[in-house]
Amino acid sequence: MPTRTPSPGDLEPIERASRDEIAALQLQRLRWSLRHTYDHVAPYRARCEQAGVHPDDLKTLADLAHFPFMTKADLREHYPFGLLAVPRQRLARLHASSGTTGKPIVVGYTLQDLSHWADVVARSLRAAGARPGDMVHNAYGYGMFTGGLGAHYGIERAGCIAVPMSGGQTEKQVQAILDFEPDFLMVTPSYSLVIAEEFARQGVSPESISLKVGIFGAEPWGEGMRGEIERMLGIDALDIYGLTEVMGPGVASECIESKDGPVIWEDHFYPEIIDPETGEVLPDGEEGELVFTSLTKEAFPVIRYRTRDLTRLLPPTARSFRRMGRITGRSDDMLIIRGVNVFPTQVEEQVLRDRRLSGNYQLVISRAGHMDELEVRCEVQRELQGRLSPADFEAIGRELQHHIKTMIGVSTQVTVLEADAIPRTLVGKARRVIDQRPKQS
Ligand code: DLL
Repeated sequence: MPTRTPSPGDLEPIERASRDEIAALQLQRLRWSLRHTYDHVAPYRARCEQAGVHPDDLKTLADLAHFPFMTKADLREHYPFGLLAVPRQRLARLHASSGTTGKPIVVGYTLQDLSHWADVVARSLRAAGARPGDMVHNAYGYGMFTGGLGAHYGIERAGCIAVPMSGGQTEKQVQAILDFEPDFLMVTPSYSLVIAEEFARQGVSPESISLKVGIFGAEPWGEGMRGEIERMLGIDALDIYGLTEVMGPGVASECIESKDGPVIWEDHFYPEIIDPETGEVLPDGEEGELVFTSLTKEAFPVIRYRTRDLTRLLPPTARSFRRMGRITGRSDDMLIIRGVNVFPTQVEEQVLRDRRLSGNYQLVISRAGHMDELEVRCEVQRELQGRLSPADFEAIGRELQHHIKTMIGVSTQVTVLEADAIPRTLVGKARRVIDQRPKQS
């Protein structure tokens, strides 16, 4: 168990500032961010003109409510670089995440953006009690996903030692933890339990594992899972939140001394909660859709970006910044399967590629042990009924499974059924998603 909670001297002055000081900084940065976006992102400028608003209209933080939202559809429409606010040559890195169909959404970072990102992840690590010289086992995936590299540079920025394991190869993960004796673990909560099970299988008790704290995110999890992870690994389990469009991991992160929801790093990301139906801003404490405006980003600024994540804003406790509650759901149909964001429309696109399939499909999500399983059920065209051999069915399934893995990045079990095997509802619309996973507490 950890012995270290950050003392006031470990915090940056802004983490302890008064709410007035924070609001003043936010207003100043918000003015810059709005102006920067308006001047350099033509599609957003057009949207503002249409709505009859101009950056000069922003006199108070509340005035932000008059400005138009940005959505994932905007990223799709202007794929890949149409929303950049700097010339492409100024970019230092790209990352990507799932779009609703074939093309991913792509974001860019300048060197300064990457530096700010490393700062907020380093701050998240300090909030978790990490000190220079601590070793951090990073099992978030490295690559286009923001988890691996985002955590990595924050670990280094915090003066800690990065073990860049990336995901998968559970036995190797366990071996590295046993050999190097890291203090911190960064990984998705569901995979941490797979690692924990491997420890148990090898007869290693929680007390003899060197890890003290885990920083988990990228997928929804609840207090029940927190308890299970803490028990199985003998650690404190903390929640880290983020999304590619806004930055990556480290938009908000939980403090070890309070464990009461991720603190939003409000000096870089300005949060609002809106009613997902009307778009109206809701008061703190009320549940709705989380919306972020970036305050310091150069390459890919976002103004009122609709995350589609449902949660609440909570008052400050361990830091001067507000916190967020658990993510209780989404206001769209995105699924997160073993940390991979999946839209049913992406799967549909792959199903429709095969002319032998009817285009009617169903996604069945279940939990086997600690990991999510995704079964894709599809059916053959009516005119092929009785003309396909069992080997054909199998081949169709294998091909679809391969396409989904390559295009979306998620492993599935594909079941190819006879024509009309998937039930239609009375109104003719198939029920696309059957989520059998236990509800998060
Ligand atoms: O998942 C960034 C990340 C990496 C966060 C590592 C934390 C740790 P995306 O792939 O763009 O980015 O997915 C973002 O994942 O809108 C939420 O729906 C979900 N999500 C992320 N963190 C949490 C969390 C990364 N702590 C989407 N709790 C977000 C619940 C989370 N959901």
